[in-house]
Amino acid sequence: MAKILVTGSNGLLGQKLLAELSKKDHAFLATSFGANRNTELDPGDYREMDITSLEMTGDIVRGFNPDYIINTAAMTQVDDCESQQEKCYNINVKGVENLLATAAEVNAKLLHISTDFIFDGEAGPYREDDSPNPVSYYGWSKLEAEKRILEDSGEHAIIRTVLVYGMAENMSRSNIVLWVKDSLEAGKDINVVNDQWRSPTLAEDLAKGCLLAVEKNAKGIYHISGDEIMTPYELALRTARHFELDEGLVHETDGSRFQQAAKRPPKTGFDISKARRDLGYNPVRFENGLDITADLILKFKS
Ligand SMILES: NC(=O)c1ccc[n+]([C@@H]2O[C@H](COP(=O)([O-])OP(=O)(O)OC[C@H]3O[C@@H](n4cnc5c(N)ncnc54)[C@H](OP(=O)(O)O)[C@@H]3O)[C@@H](O)[C@H]2O)c1
Repeated sequence: MAKILVTGSNGLLGQKLLAELSKKDHAFLATSFGANRNTELDPGDYREMDITSLEMTGDIVRGFNPDYIINTAAMTQVDDCESQQEKCYNINVKGVENLLATAAEVNAKLLHISTDFIFDGEAGPYREDDSPNPVSYYGWSKLEAEKRILEDSGEHAIIRTVLVYGMAENMSRSNIVLWVKDSLEAGKDINVVNDQWRSPTLAEDLAKGCLLAVEKNAKGIYHISGDEIMTPYELALRTARHFELDEGLVHETDGSRFQQAAKRPPKTGFDISKARRDLGYNPVRFENGLDITADLILKFKS
């Protein structure tokens, strides 16, 4: 049994981690920016914690004295990171420095979530030891955080993931599956790119992978994602077919037609054989992930 402090617990992965933790024997404390938005959580298990405040982070980490800190907190909107670089640096790099400093005080290990966007997307799918070369400020900030963690101690772990989807309560941002489903149900046409490749990851699978990493005392870098590589266009079509929505509303396009602040890496996706072998990680098929997500849409939207 471990004592685990989760940051960013209001977020998609944060909420899934808490759902997994509540089924297990580990003691945990949920923390996030602002008030708790996860009504399934016992109020006594939540503390407001802004990871950009060293003082607040130090007080709460020292008070709980965890064995592990799982850091899901981040500025995750890629275009916002490009246009608000100082804010992004504060959360994605300084926030991690604060967690490292306070983890050292209580001898806790950090399990940090990183991204496929540290790669340039010229040679995916990627393995853990492939060379990073981010093409956006978000990717750069997440890579800087990885460097700080690896320089700090060999005891910490970094879990990189790709295009996370799923449904949680009071979400502050949507994701591609929810966007496709909501748009098609409303009869709206959508344009979806066919020149990017990703391995979409069910948030529940990612949460399970993080806890496997804690339980196996994983160190260093692990790639955890779904095991099917597809374009967003294919993802949208498979979502439409699975939910029996109008595929005719899904239109193929390419990235050059979008005006976006940040560049996207064209082909990422992960080779997850290390996580399968060392952690026993085993993701669901994409359509199973859609079923799990649909059940939670009914639960949280009703
Ligand atoms: N989503 C993806 O497709 C994807 C892909 C690759 C990697 N990742 C990584 O996976 C991790 C989890 O992502 P996610 O999808 O769960 O993101 P998310 O839903 O945006 O959750 C991030 C959470 O962090 C919170 N947060 C922001 N700034 C904070 C601060 N200063 N202190 C404490 N909490 C703060 C956010 O609060 P608010 O809710 O109040 O904004 C949000 O609840 C992130 O590290 C992300 O970089 C995500």
